[in-house]
Amino acid sequence: LLPTNPYSATKAGAEMLVMAYGRSYGLPVITTRGNNVYGPNQFPEKLIPKFILLAMGGKVLPIHGDGSNVRSYLYCEDVAEAFEVILHKGEVGHVYNIGTKKERRVNDVARDVCKLFGMDPEASIKFVENRPFNDQRYFLDDEKLKKLGWSERTTWEEGLKKTMEWYTQNPEWWGDVSGALLPHPRMLMMPGGRHFDGSDEISSAASASDKPSQSHMVVPSARSTPQKPSLKFLIYGKTGWIGGLLGKLCEKQGIAYEYGKGRLEDRASLLQDVMSVKPTHVFNSAGVTGRPNVDWCESHKTETIRANVAGTLTLADVCREHGLLMMNFATGCIFEYDEKHPEGSGVGFKEEDTPNFTGSFYSKTKAMVEELLKEYDNVCTLRVRMPISSDLNNPRNFITKISRYNKVVNIPNSMTVLDELLPISIEMAKRNLKGIWNFTNPGVVSHNEILEMYRDYINPEFKWANFTLEEQAKVIVAPRSNNEMDASKLKKEFPELLSIKESLIKYAFEPNKKT
Ligand SMILES: NC(=O)c1ccc[n+]([C@@H]2O[C@H](COP(=O)([O-])OP(=O)(O)OC[C@H]3O[C@@H](n4cnc5c(N)ncnc54)[C@H](OP(=O)(O)O)[C@@H]3O)[C@@H](O)[C@H]2O)c1
Repeated sequence: LLPTNPYSATKAGAEMLVMAYGRSYGLPVITTRGNNVYGPNQFPEKLIPKFILLAMGGKVLPIHGDGSNVRSYLYCEDVAEAFEVILHKGEVGHVYNIGTKKERRVNDVARDVCKLFGMDPEASIKFVENRPFNDQRYFLDDEKLKKLGWSERTTWEEGLKKTMEWYTQNPEWWGDVSGALLPHPRMLMMPGGRHFDGSDEISSAASASDKPSQSHMVVPSARSTPQKPSLKFLIYGKTGWIGGLLGKLCEKQGIAYEYGKGRLEDRASLLQDVMSVKPTHVFNSAGVTGRPNVDWCESHKTETIRANVAGTLTLADVCREHGLLMMNFATGCIFEYDEKHPEGSGVGFKEEDTPNFTGSFYSKTKAMVEELLKEYDNVCTLRVRMPISSDLNNPRNFITKISRYNKVVNIPNSMTVLDELLPISIEMAKRNLKGIWNFTNPGVVSHNEILEMYRDYINPEFKWANFTLEEQAKVIVAPRSNNEMDASKLKKEFPELLSIKESLIKYAFEPNKKT
């Protein structure tokens, strides 16, 4: 073995480890070494499906370098047959190459695809910059496998035609793969895609003038019918407040979605969801929030850890494994006013600040999980705070809550108007935004200011009484966080974002106005 690039080095290393297990522990292992496999259903980061999809869109087929590299292509059904033969007839401890002696230059592959689509190769093939570890040739001798009775059955012409037919009949199968058709695809540029491993094939490149959003797939017969890149969301939290609203929003926006059936802490059930739904993005609005309120978490600590820590991390990990972006509804209740961020100062906590509020077990677990999620480059953490919606009958709505309390404290806080911000979370998913985001409207609003609006817009007779934080402490189990979050990062990305008071009036009070 003489691996020439980091990818092949990991493969060679894995092969040796497996062999070593066979020798040391008698594990019955057989190793197969494959050539380039192609056929229907292959993810379009690979050369053949990529060329086919580009040709379907009438785009140029870009080739890294001069295209003289050679590869041996085997049709997927022949490879599956080889596995079967090796499984039943192969000798334990042996290595079998699954290959073909027929080699093809990348140039010729591109020309054959052009031929199938009636395209002029001279005009349709473009040579672009080579990639770092673009091996010239891999060649495998398949004699040993042939001796077991296997032989290649599908000719190149037949296999390529079948592959082309599958892609033209299933143009939407892979959804929006514009990212994968780019010159050097990277993970997360491919919604719904998998990790780009730069492995066995030469990736091709899109033409320099192509922008991802313009790469629409069209079937060859329809001359140019652009289709919308299709999104498919997998949402956790079907029975929850935010999860319920997200589903309604998707319906309104015509975005395909399904709710996850799995439980967050059950990895196998999450994997099953991902395999069956084939989402482009995953939204996590599941978690325990406690009923009637977060005090519940104080007496149900292991349940809280199971869902909010173990569960959230498991989902993030499953998503990472599948190259999926997870939009995670987290909380901003992990901060409290302090000396550097005093109440009324206008200095809010930023995304990079370390949580300083662990007064309640709920907040403590949320701060811990947020810290760990930083290590996941496929996660977008949305710090929601004191959510508000236009549904004033919903008991979870902050307005509804405080209008029903006997007494309320009066402290300015950052808050999230869901009617305005949930559509933004969808837009953030489309933009593949990651990292931590303070997911609140800019500015703060106090309890009394909200209740004054409530009186002015909803019920002129409405009266309320305040009490102090010390008095409040007597009627709740765990302390609550009060803070201002700095929403400038979100505002910069979405300049149209309204301040909390403007948003409250526009989304919650004006539509419910009774006075
Ligand atoms: N509401 C707030 O005040 C607020 C504020 C800031 C942040 N957040 C965060 O935003 C997220 C959503 O909040 P929400 O108000 O929509 O919560 P919610 O109404 O309490 O809904 C929680 C959802 O999570 C599901 N769930 C709980 N444990 C689960 C598990 N182990 N596996 C799978 N699903 C599970 C529940 O389903 P089952 O009924 O089937 O268990 C429910 O659908 C939460 O993470 C919350 O911490 C909420």
